[in-house]
Amino acid sequence: MFDFNYYTPTKVVFGKNSESKVAELIKEFGGKKILIHYGGGSVVRSGLLKRVTDILDIAGLEYVILGGAVPNPHLGLVYEGIEICKKEKVDFLLALGGGSAIDSAKAIGYGVFNEGEVWDFYDYKRQAKGCLPLGVILTIAATGSEMSDSSVITKEEGLIKRGYSSDFGRPKFAVLNPELTMTLPDYQTSCGCTDIMMHTMERYFTNGGNMEITDSIAEGLLRTVKKNALILHKDPSDYDARAEVMWAGSLSHNGLTGCGNDGGDWMTHKLEHELGGLYDVAHGAGLAAIWGSWARYVYKDCLARFKKFALNVMEVKDCGSDEEIALAGIEAMEEFYRSIEMPTNLRELGVKPTDEELVLMAKKCAVGVGGEMGSAKVLNEEAMLAIYRASM
Ligand code: NZQ
Ligand code: ZN
Repeated sequence: MFDFNYYTPTKVVFGKNSESKVAELIKEFGGKKILIHYGGGSVVRSGLLKRVTDILDIAGLEYVILGGAVPNPHLGLVYEGIEICKKEKVDFLLALGGGSAIDSAKAIGYGVFNEGEVWDFYDYKRQAKGCLPLGVILTIAATGSEMSDSSVITKEEGLIKRGYSSDFGRPKFAVLNPELTMTLPDYQTSCGCTDIMMHTMERYFTNGGNMEITDSIAEGLLRTVKKNALILHKDPSDYDARAEVMWAGSLSHNGLTGCGNDGGDWMTHKLEHELGGLYDVAHGAGLAAIWGSWARYVYKDCLARFKKFALNVMEVKDCGSDEEIALAGIEAMEEFYRSIEMPTNLRELGVKPTDEELVLMAKKCAVGVGGEMGSAKVLNEEAMLAIYRASM
């Protein structure tokens, strides 16, 4: 087991109608002039934006509004947000939506707080010295960005999708009302459940320093999301299932399921980020499409963990060799993806890269991780390409 720091400063306000507390939360964290940032318009259609602006009006809080964060959010809009914040003297950011709106808001916050080019942080050139304070009203359980230190942005020029992690980017508060997720298309609900599970699985499949308590939390979280994803696939309006998944999403990426291990593998995410950057696929679906090929490529180097996963999460029968059990676990996971209509390869994801494009993705991925990366197995560019090819 490894030493660790566990830092989760985000105040969570969970439950029905919790967004009604948004004005008092902003005031608690010192906000006076707010940029409300959202995505493509679901919060307009659901009436959430109107409800929030009404609450701010009554509370006497000033605000400006910027929508338009696309899935796999773009740097161009980040620049626009930075300019608005500077011009309007914004001192607090409020993201309404999912990972894309939240991550875009985090990037705006870095750009306002720090002098110079904001992309530098995503390009590993320097570290941020701070970020404007940010609050979140979450509308999709998926990325965990509402409590995480990460922000993932795509630079349009070269379609480069990169993440930046800093504790400064952790939101001050997260309003989690499961009811707000009920308007999600089924596909997005499934993508979200996949992403939530992956955030724990990335931390689980390691070759370093695992802790029994962390494993128990991780396995419990995975079983819970798996069960409730199936419930939501049949009945999207099940409040309790929405709530279980929503809380799991935050816990899956706030660091809890990584305490005591070596930081995790993260290669499925890195491989997916190239897909998201180039083909604009939904993040969760991209992860599902890659995971099986990644797992089959690495499982022999991390056999004990794959066996444990098969037995304790996928409920595979404890018979046969370790390898057979591990493989049965991978197959059961893919079967689960299929049962919630997630893809298990690139064809099912709906993209058809040429071999040259696979080579390019592997190259960009290797550059993005500084050459090689992974904990279940360290992967270099050649290995990344082999996994992309196997996922066709
Ligand atoms: O844009 P709107 O109109 O809001 O529609 C969104 C979008 O089309 C829609 N949606 C969200 N809530 C809804 C809703 N539609 C109806 N009703 C609702 N209640 O769902 C679509 C997806 O939204 P988006 O925010 O893009 O999804 P997600 O939360 O999965 O975020 C994905 C982005 O986050 C990054 C991903 O790479 C991707 O760019 N990630 C961020 C992480 C982090 N910051 O910690 C970690 C993750 O691993 C991930 O990489
Ligand atoms: Zn993710």
